[in-house]
Amino acid sequence: MRINFSAALAALLLTLCATAAAADEDGYDLWLRYRPLDRTAQANVQSQARSIVLPGAASPTTQAAVAELQRGLAGMLGKAPAPASRIADGALLLATPARLPELAAVASPLRAELATLGNEGYLQRQTRVQGHNVTLIAANSDIGLLYGAYAWLRDAGTGARLEASSAPKLSLRLLNHWDNLDRTVERGYAGQSIWDWWALPDIKDQRYTDYARANASLGINGTVLNNVNSKPEVLTAPFIAKAAAVADVLRPYGIKVYLSARFSTPLELKETSTADPLSPEVRAWWQRKADEIYKAIPDFGGFLVKANSEGQPGPQDYHRTHADGANMLAAAVAPHKGIVMWRAFVYAPKGAHLADDRARQAYEEFKPLDGDFSANVLVQVKNGAIDFQPREPFHPLFGAMPKTPLMMEFQIAKEYLGYSTDMAYLGTLFEETLESDTKTAAGAVANTLTGMAGVANIGSDRNWAGSQFDQANWYAFGRMAWNPQAKARDIAAEWAALTFGPDKRVAPPIVDMMMISRETVVNYMTPLGLHHIMGTGHHFGPAPWVDNLERPDWNPVYYHRASRDGIGFDRTAKGSNALEQYAPEIARQYADPKTTPEQYLLWFHHLPWDYAMPSGRTLWAELLTRYDQGLADARSLHARWVALKPLIDARRYTEEEQRLTRQVNNAILWRDACIAYFQSVSGLALPPGVQAPAHPLDYYKSLSYPYAPGRG
Ligand code: GCU
Repeated sequence: MRINFSAALAALLLTLCATAAAADEDGYDLWLRYRPLDRTAQANVQSQARSIVLPGAASPTTQAAVAELQRGLAGMLGKAPAPASRIADGALLLATPARLPELAAVASPLRAELATLGNEGYLQRQTRVQGHNVTLIAANSDIGLLYGAYAWLRDAGTGARLEASSAPKLSLRLLNHWDNLDRTVERGYAGQSIWDWWALPDIKDQRYTDYARANASLGINGTVLNNVNSKPEVLTAPFIAKAAAVADVLRPYGIKVYLSARFSTPLELKETSTADPLSPEVRAWWQRKADEIYKAIPDFGGFLVKANSEGQPGPQDYHRTHADGANMLAAAVAPHKGIVMWRAFVYAPKGAHLADDRARQAYEEFKPLDGDFSANVLVQVKNGAIDFQPREPFHPLFGAMPKTPLMMEFQIAKEYLGYSTDMAYLGTLFEETLESDTKTAAGAVANTLTGMAGVANIGSDRNWAGSQFDQANWYAFGRMAWNPQAKARDIAAEWAALTFGPDKRVAPPIVDMMMISRETVVNYMTPLGLHHIMGTGHHFGPAPWVDNLERPDWNPVYYHRASRDGIGFDRTAKGSNALEQYAPEIARQYADPKTTPEQYLLWFHHLPWDYAMPSGRTLWAELLTRYDQGLADARSLHARWVALKPLIDARRYTEEEQRLTRQVNNAILWRDACIAYFQSVSGLALPPGVQAPAHPLDYYKSLSYPYAPGRG
């Protein structure tokens, strides 16, 4: 055998260089790492930022923008230009019409473009100003300049074209923290709450500023600080002062603070005798409370409310409607321009009349109220009608409430997708939902939205999100809230380049991993439209056998309905008819299993095990194939990561290698447990070539996870 020594040497050198270059990172810097660029990119970026010029007096927001540019340039180029007061060739110029009157000059094309960008948009342009060649970041407001600065840095870091304009398509782009006052986080898998309520308001952790930077870099402009399962104490003076301290840190970054309000707060604080939303005493209490909050937080965003759901109090306790409840709170915040985000995640309380199908309930309660809500109320609807499953069809309320502004609620924390241990890039989930066609006047789901809320996956962990790859889900949420038509793959490419460097040997393979990761999880957990077959309470691990919980719709057997005769939830007219809640065209298409997308098959249909699938396999064989595919893809994710070892810093490599190994084990567990269970129900043999589960069914049933995180 002839060895090509020069090629081998070159490969070795490449590996050594890559390894030497990749210093250990802990992930704290997120996608704002600003590592040194290669020479060509450096020269290009440098030529556009020989000085940073901001005409007019600095504001806290422009200070943040200039500081970020300096930080970014120092990192990428080795040194940052000082701010200059005079425009010169090669300046990076940040300007609004108010700051630079010539931008306002009549009839300039630039001015016309600026006029289309609203308060938060920005444009970047190579142009001439006052006789000098400059790179202009222009906006109508200082917050637009901050967003423009982040966009410019992002482009510089990824090598993208440094010329663009952009404005958010949605005005409300919010994170929802499910954080409790004791710093536990409901469904949080990244440590404790980042809000150190005990230390606040005196001690403001540096993390709050870095949190604001990260969010502003994506255009997130609001955050709900506390859990939707809220406590009355949140609205007492000491906690308002704490929230105000956080608001002070976030304000320069364009991020408003909101609070989750417990509907019965005045009653529980013993300051009223009822929480009835029509009681004058109660209405006056909320008005006083709103005044008190706005005194401390003048730009307070408003309230998020979970009412009459999972034991939370609400207007129905007084035989009032959701609209009565929401409008009462809306009246309290309206004089201050506040809003109320009223959640449609309603889940009948114990003992109450249960809809025949839990998937029907939100629509049944909310659709009749379309048009009854005050102007400053938005109804916040989860992406699907059940609960953040690995895959759900879009919620039927989208497209069904034309007179009510709707916000889409996604869960960035992966409560049902293996927490922060399993890799599942949610960009594809967000994209799939937002692109769904409602077949109503609204068209795509994205067109019905006025805002997006993401249940945060952020905690006190050094890497913020519990794993490096989970940072991508925060990133993707923010980018899609800015532009719901953005593509998951493009966002993944941006994130991977910013997070692991633009090296073509690294970012593209990572993007490919990300793009298959969520489907991988769907396949090894809930293929073909199965849903909610996770373990009780913690929602981790398989438990399709659970059938003994008090309420029928708490039990996995309620959702999969597997028996000797077949599997799946019949939501057609023969069954719960949840399908009637969709536009007639969709209802018709999905009424027939032959025209139902395979990914939703068992969501809408109960089918015999020998049902013939388009692949030519029986349903039973197809189900097994999907579980095997999920496991094979989990193994492939691991193998692809291992192949990148020489190119990734050791610390992040090892962290993710361990997680991907564990993911393979989770996939084995899910596959084997589900196959063992469904086989016990169907009584069918495993076709040749399908490996039998490693253990008998009882073994899987005996597993428990008493210390699973995230239970709040
Ligand atoms: C899920 C989740 C709960 C959460 C609820 C909600 O059911 O498991 O922890 O409180 O959603 O969205 O309100």
